[in-house]
Amino acid sequence: MARKLLAANWKMNLTLIEAQGLTSEIVSIYQTEIQKPIPIILAPPFPFLHAVHHLAKDAPRFQIAAQTVHHEPKGAFTGSVSAPMLVSVGCSAVIIGHSECRQAGDTDELLVRKVKIALQHKLRPIFCIGETLTQRENNQTFSVIEKQLSWFLSDSRPPDNEFQQIIFAYEPVWAIGTGKTATPEQAQEVHAWIREKFTSVLGALASQITILYGGSVTPQTAKDLFKQPDIDGGLIGGASLKARDFIEIAKSF
Ligand code: PGA
Repeated sequence: MARKLLAANWKMNLTLIEAQGLTSEIVSIYQTEIQKPIPIILAPPFPFLHAVHHLAKDAPRFQIAAQTVHHEPKGAFTGSVSAPMLVSVGCSAVIIGHSECRQAGDTDELLVRKVKIALQHKLRPIFCIGETLTQRENNQTFSVIEKQLSWFLSDSRPPDNEFQQIIFAYEPVWAIGTGKTATPEQAQEVHAWIREKFTSVLGALASQITILYGGSVTPQTAKDLFKQPDIDGGLIGGASLKARDFIEIAKSF
């Protein structure tokens, strides 16, 4: 499976009209300007998923993701959205474990349940991991990430054919929305370490796992990040809200 990929996390931004406009703009500039086509995943807020899917469904490289999912398939969970619902509105992926959701209460155990339900419904999890600034300063980066990945590195991890579907995103919390991108060397060091961990359980298959970098990626920083051997693309927040910036990032591969 090809590893390269670019994902847009629109977070809690835009109105319906704006989301539709941004989607159309991204799709049309992509089709006219991108020479080296890479797969794109757009992750709009829940209420816009169906409309964004409708606008992007005929663009061959585009897929739609939700920003989170409930761990149960249905039931009395007011305000929540289930995996079958996401599939029914055209999603093929879902972000799980974004640091903003971890901060709002998603625990490692809950996130494993979310990954399981996503895989059961053929949604590709985009699983986020990353350390805070204090953790980095205390030399805890690798131990924090190892804990966040512990289920994936254990014997109860998903079977290889499902593991291969999972997209991982290394997003140092200190780099998210701060304008402080990790240097290509800092990011590569962590990505290579993650891939090595995957190799210890998956063997050669680890070389096929997509590991994205996220955290203040801009058109200016993308090229050097994406040049790194273990960085397969980006999960882009702020810069994905401007079609021109997002496309420039897509040109950085
Ligand atoms: P940012 O967000 O690009 O605005 O830092 C990335 C993310 O949170 O996924």
